[in-house]
Amino acid sequence: MDTSIGTGNPIDRVEGHLKVTGMAKYSSEFPVDKMLYAQAINSTIAKGEISSIDISEAKKQKGVVEIITYKNAEKLKTPDKKLPPLSTTSIQPVLQSPQVHYYGEYVGLVVAETFEQAQYAARLVKIKYKKETPKIDFKNHRADAYKPEEESDYSRGDVEAGLAEADQKLEATYNTPIEHHHPMELHAVIASWENGKVKAYASQQMINDAAVTISNTFQIPKEDVRVIAPFVGGGFGSKLHAKQHVILAIMAAKKTGRPVQLTVTRHQMFTNTNLRQHNEQKVSIGAAKDGSLTALAHEIVSHTSTYEEYQEPCGTVSKMLYKVPNNKVTHRLVPVNLQTPFAMRAPGEATGSFALESAMDEMAWKLKMDPIEFRIKNDTQTDPSNDKPFSSRLLVECLRIGADKFGWDKRKMEPAKNTNGNWLVGYGVSGASRAAPYQETSSKVILTLKDGTVLATIQMDATDIGTGSYTIIAQTASEYLDIPVGQVVVQLADSLFPVTPGSGGSWGAASYCNGARMACQNAIKELKQKLNVGDEKKMSVKELMTGNKLTTYEAQGTAKPSEAFKEHSVYSFGANFAEVWVDKDTGMFRIKRMLNVGACGKILNPKTAFGQIIGGLTMGAGMVIAEQTRVEPNFGNFITRSFADYHVPVNLDMANVEVVFLPEEDKIANEMGVKGIGELGITSVAASIANAIFNATGKRMRDLPITPEKLIMAGVEPGVA
Ligand code: MOS
Repeated sequence: MDTSIGTGNPIDRVEGHLKVTGMAKYSSEFPVDKMLYAQAINSTIAKGEISSIDISEAKKQKGVVEIITYKNAEKLKTPDKKLPPLSTTSIQPVLQSPQVHYYGEYVGLVVAETFEQAQYAARLVKIKYKKETPKIDFKNHRADAYKPEEESDYSRGDVEAGLAEADQKLEATYNTPIEHHHPMELHAVIASWENGKVKAYASQQMINDAAVTISNTFQIPKEDVRVIAPFVGGGFGSKLHAKQHVILAIMAAKKTGRPVQLTVTRHQMFTNTNLRQHNEQKVSIGAAKDGSLTALAHEIVSHTSTYEEYQEPCGTVSKMLYKVPNNKVTHRLVPVNLQTPFAMRAPGEATGSFALESAMDEMAWKLKMDPIEFRIKNDTQTDPSNDKPFSSRLLVECLRIGADKFGWDKRKMEPAKNTNGNWLVGYGVSGASRAAPYQETSSKVILTLKDGTVLATIQMDATDIGTGSYTIIAQTASEYLDIPVGQVVVQLADSLFPVTPGSGGSWGAASYCNGARMACQNAIKELKQKLNVGDEKKMSVKELMTGNKLTTYEAQGTAKPSEAFKEHSVYSFGANFAEVWVDKDTGMFRIKRMLNVGACGKILNPKTAFGQIIGGLTMGAGMVIAEQTRVEPNFGNFITRSFADYHVPVNLDMANVEVVFLPEEDKIANEMGVKGIGELGITSVAASIANAIFNATGKRMRDLPITPEKLIMAGVEPGVA
């Protein structure tokens, strides 16, 4: 039993033993009676219309129970074209028409007694199409670019005037490719209907949001939808919304009258569970001789689907990270025949910071300033995008302490001057910021007194997507009830439990823990009131229970952002440092060391927090060294279709990583002083590595990923610039 009390201790995950012994049940693993298995069928064209479907051969295969296509699918309510923001109502239609909008779109579903039968029969469904020429690469269709319906352009001051008065100017364009989330656990659902009510074991990041989507799509009350996801094997944004496979399984369960399991395959996770879009970002910077920024423009062109609008807010960081009087951010979208892009870890910041923090490095070099001093010169304690003070901002401290720990003084400012045999050695830095949102969260605590020991059960519909929610919520309850962590049981991710915002946007830790805190504090307050003792009198939960002659007691609590929160800009800050060695003959490079210094409020559990940051650093490194989804430009199918060709970093790539958290308790952020951490770790990592590559080689790499062949094409050898 864990006898530690409270937050701040690096305790092991409370659910760890369930995971390593295989006892933790993921969505597709629940034992359900009379379950059927479904296999979805994907379109083999990117644009056009289904002209015929022949299910005769598939239908007569052993075990096949049902085949659903647009011809016999339940008619669903038509959604709005614009993808609604998170935590609002949404409708997820599927199999509603013969139209095909992208390669791999679901065009049918085979339901059978076994998984193998469903898979086999799915291959026998013969679909013919009337093909049209798709638009695939947005760069070939710039004329179609439009300003998103959801207004997102921003400006302050006069960028043209700011550039005109600058001593140094930079205009550079950066490209980040399509990426996929690829959590280890495949998207999966087991859906059933009973008495008009839906029950779905579904791998989702946000339980309430999924219930809302299901309720709206099938036009049934939300109370009649139960979503359960006690364990989620990663999401990275792809599991924020209930997607089409969830709707397909529910539809099939309704049609067959039996529970239906549907697991999205790894191939389908390229085509059917969203993606991070290809962004082209033009950054223009003006600076005075002394390094003060005079202007910053960030112009983004990307793609959306032909049926829905999604834009990644890549300019978020550019609006608020530095003191610059003249600032402009624009977004333009080109509709193409690919599925709708959607949020992937630090949407906006991960990609936007690559452009901004590369451009800052380029400008520092033009000014012949140290890139750390250049950033510090433009620090601000007031958010220039809204004139609100930052609740706390330790960016300068992150940069200075990081420089000290990393040995920044050993960096040679002149690029390509630090060599070690065939290796060109470079150091890079970048600044990072990520909003630290905090949202209304409810929780319930059930106290029991048994054999003289108090046990507390915390319930909320929060999820643990691998982040450590179970552990930090247990630690929080332990702190506010003043009992050992081992006496707390945390039950999550069931829509029968009190509503939380779910896991996304780096709001989980702050929201969940403050919600749990409120429930615990309310329990103590109520138990004191029953005894007519004052709030200030110190009594243990055990004394309160015994005094009240209670063996069990329940209390609820809801936490929400304060007025002070709304009056401030609440962000986490950080700095990334990288040392990269580039082989001057082959262009191969190694990330030798990475250091991340973060100021992200109170660290609830240094071990799980460290896990979040190294996960972010790994994805950030992945952006530079490998991750790229390749699309066939004529047919629109993905060429990268598995981990054999969609590469992510391995341990050897991440050999030496150090993470430092600066002590910080931001009481404006929330009462526990907790700020978001999940997305800060990926932000600006790519820029720190690209900047190190520049320092090593003198070559500015503006297109991710940075592959050896790109470095060779750029001519990495020193003096051959
Ligand atoms: Mo995140 S992209 O909000 O899971």
